[in-house]
Amino acid sequence: MKILVVGSGGREHAIVWKLKQSPKADKIYCAPGNAGIAQDAQCVPIGAMEIDKLVDFAKKEGIDFTVIGMDDPLVAGVVDAFEKEGLRVFGPRKNAAIVEGSKAFSKELMKKYGIPTAKYETFSDYEKAKSYVLGHDVPLVVKADGLALGKGVIICNTHEEAVAALDEIMVDKKFGKSGNTVVIEEFLTGPEVSVLSFCDGKTVVPMVSAQDHKRAFDNDEGLNTGGMGTFSPSRIYTKEINDECMEKIFKPTVAALANEGRPFVGVLYFGLMLTKDGMKVIEYNARFGDPETQVILPRLKSDLLEIMESCVDGTLDKMEIEWYNNAAVCVVEASGGYPVSYDKGYVITGLEEAAKRDDIIVFHAGTALKDGKLVTNGGRVLGITGIGKDIDEARKKAYEGVDIVDFEKKHFRHDIGIKKY
Ligand code: AMP
Ligand code: GLY
Repeated sequence: MKILVVGSGGREHAIVWKLKQSPKADKIYCAPGNAGIAQDAQCVPIGAMEIDKLVDFAKKEGIDFTVIGMDDPLVAGVVDAFEKEGLRVFGPRKNAAIVEGSKAFSKELMKKYGIPTAKYETFSDYEKAKSYVLGHDVPLVVKADGLALGKGVIICNTHEEAVAALDEIMVDKKFGKSGNTVVIEEFLTGPEVSVLSFCDGKTVVPMVSAQDHKRAFDNDEGLNTGGMGTFSPSRIYTKEINDECMEKIFKPTVAALANEGRPFVGVLYFGLMLTKDGMKVIEYNARFGDPETQVILPRLKSDLLEIMESCVDGTLDKMEIEWYNNAAVCVVEASGGYPVSYDKGYVITGLEEAAKRDDIIVFHAGTALKDGKLVTNGGRVLGITGIGKDIDEARKKAYEGVDIVDFEKKHFRHDIGIKKY
């Protein structure tokens, strides 16, 4: 089969890396990909949002199966565009990707179907939103309705902060149209866990659990980032909790979407928080998480391509999905200064040495090829995944990899996967 993967980050590298292991995968393309992905697939210079060009490429090249990694094209309807041309594609249609594209939609869905989540109100009128926050106790969480590069959630500890958040989102339009509507939520506390699942519209199969570290510095200090590291499995996500989530969250969500005429096909990501009142949904994403994928897919024993095909064909209930009984830790190597400002173009060393290790996998996120050398080309540069029998061993391997793979002004967290999480 000829396969096309759409996206350019560490997540897409992990997807390509895993698909390549399938005996059914003859040739893999990635649009637009990056310098590391180019070692595993043929990169094509088409942006993830250039939907017409992607469809044209798939038709001309005779692509048998396309996998969409990123959220923006899904929310914009890339799957519908492929299906219209009779092309097979893995990912939710626009009317189901809305679970990520609109927080107001997903909150309403959860309320209607009794799926546990934080209490909330939705506002499109600034004055009404303002009088609501002033009339409620803090902390409150103010969220832009639409996609905001993961930055549209503001936790407000004072009324002043809440009003400032509303100003930023609704008046200054920091996130553009995504801020036409806001969701204002009660503030919940508890450990967070990401559970990604395969869905075929009817059946939902959770993957192994993962946890990510979003803040830039050790001990969860500093600004929120796209993710500084992940580990799998989560220590808090027991079999009992999984059973409870299956009954109260996963199955009801997939059934709700089907019932609304929006069957979800693809990866449905449940961002969960274990509160004193049990597990609650913090957010849905309509795709694999980044960098969760970099610890989840290395633990998948089964053929990813076969699973994805079964999702598209509606036969996921017939699949036996197997996982390795091990653990994985991914430490992100970022450019010093990320997520604010940073330089690019530093030469990356140690990649050949790391490639010799079968317990370390290097996934590329922001890299480029310059004068025949791999150089840094983004905020998050690489994800170094270590594999071991348990988290502690995987952690050790990941940090050995971090020592081996180097570049100037490298920044990483030292506490990915340690016990307190
Ligand atoms: P989201 O983009 O919805 O995942 O939100 C980003 C992060 O904000 C989450 O991972 C949580 O850490 C935090 N967050 C979101 N909603 C709440 C809430 N209702 N209470 C506490 N923290 C929240
Ligand atoms: N790691 C969080 C996300 O992919 O949204």
